[in-house]
Amino acid sequence: MAAIRLVLFIPLILVPLSSSVPFIVLHGIGDQCSNRGVKQFTELLSNWSNSNGFCLEIGDGTWDSWFMPLYQQAAVVCDKVKEMKDLREGYNIVGLSQGNLIGRAVVEFCEGGPPVKNFISLAGPHAGTASVPLCGSGILCIIADSLIKAEIYTDYIQDHLAPSGYLKLPNNLDAYLEKCKFLPKLNNEIPGERNSTYKKRFTSLENLVLIMFDHDTVLIPKETAWFGYYPDGLFKPVLPTEETALYTEDWIGLKTLDAMGKVKYISLPGNHLGISRNDMKKYVVPYLDSQSTTELSTERIIRSRSHGVHSRVSKEKIERIVPPLEVKESPEVIIEGSSSFTWPSSVKSFFSELLELKFK
Ligand SMILES: *[C@@H]1O[C@H](CO)[C@@H](O)[C@H](O)[C@H]1NC(C)=O
Ligand SMILES: *[C@@H]1O[C@H](CO)[C@@H](O)[C@H](O)[C@H]1NC(C)=O
Repeated sequence: MAAIRLVLFIPLILVPLSSSVPFIVLHGIGDQCSNRGVKQFTELLSNWSNSNGFCLEIGDGTWDSWFMPLYQQAAVVCDKVKEMKDLREGYNIVGLSQGNLIGRAVVEFCEGGPPVKNFISLAGPHAGTASVPLCGSGILCIIADSLIKAEIYTDYIQDHLAPSGYLKLPNNLDAYLEKCKFLPKLNNEIPGERNSTYKKRFTSLENLVLIMFDHDTVLIPKETAWFGYYPDGLFKPVLPTEETALYTEDWIGLKTLDAMGKVKYISLPGNHLGISRNDMKKYVVPYLDSQSTTELSTERIIRSRSHGVHSRVSKEKIERIVPPLEVKESPEVIIEGSSSFTWPSSVKSFFSELLELKFK
């Protein structure tokens, strides 16, 4: 009798001890979980928040981040989160750049997945991007870039190049809505095909933290990190979030979340993903730390929305490679865009083949 009672009691005692909410990290394009930067980023957040952090890899990492279509990448993550016992009671998502769209697709599309509580987005191209941040000024890059712009909304590119799923050219919106296979669906943009299930799932988030970098040269425009974007048909001026149709017509529930005070718009100095340790502690860790999440609600985090959104984005397109996270030795900056990143030869040969096909 006594033994049975003991067995029954143990789980009751242990439950509170394991109540901290785990998180997953979804890295950006060209990166992978085994890289030092992402590894350290995940570990620091985990250490500071006292919660388990998992960097989830998709396929082989770098290669698949470029060439596996995003709907497929999201399906891989959906399967993984369903299998992970640690996440069963719910989890948080930390997204880096492109990883944010995968994370959001998991929130909206993943059937039967565990609940996502807080979503912390660093430099996510949520409303799309108007330039493929592929390369520098080499001739191959210039040709590849114009080729991509000409061919982006074809089935071939859509099925073979991940960023084509969120390249939204304001002067080619008809083709975008018709042919782009990822973002129009994720953002419930297609008239007549808006899915209330996606909206319901997205609206169930406890907090949505949108971090924009003031000097982001990878996302065009940088305000896409807050769901701001160009008006239809034009490359300027950038519409602030609350003036976009996605917001005013509440296609995915962003306005609803915002009205509940659950959206935190943060703007930080620095280039793409160049967040300092201090800012990680200030703006990311509190949402991962289950002790402090409930106390966060209104005060300290929210910065005026007018701060970053009104600045004009110049029309010139800045094409750059998207760097993997890099951990600096400096105590201040933990990750920062690096300009020394070289184009992987695999990516080069992909475009060479594409170009040969095209001009044969
Ligand atoms: C995280 O904490 C562990 C254990 O204290 C330590 O060994 C590790 O170096 C820390 N990680 C980082 C990135 O500081
Ligand atoms: C909306 O999405 C859900 C979940 O994927 C699906 O079951 C449903 O059929 C979709 N509804 C419409 C109207 O497309």
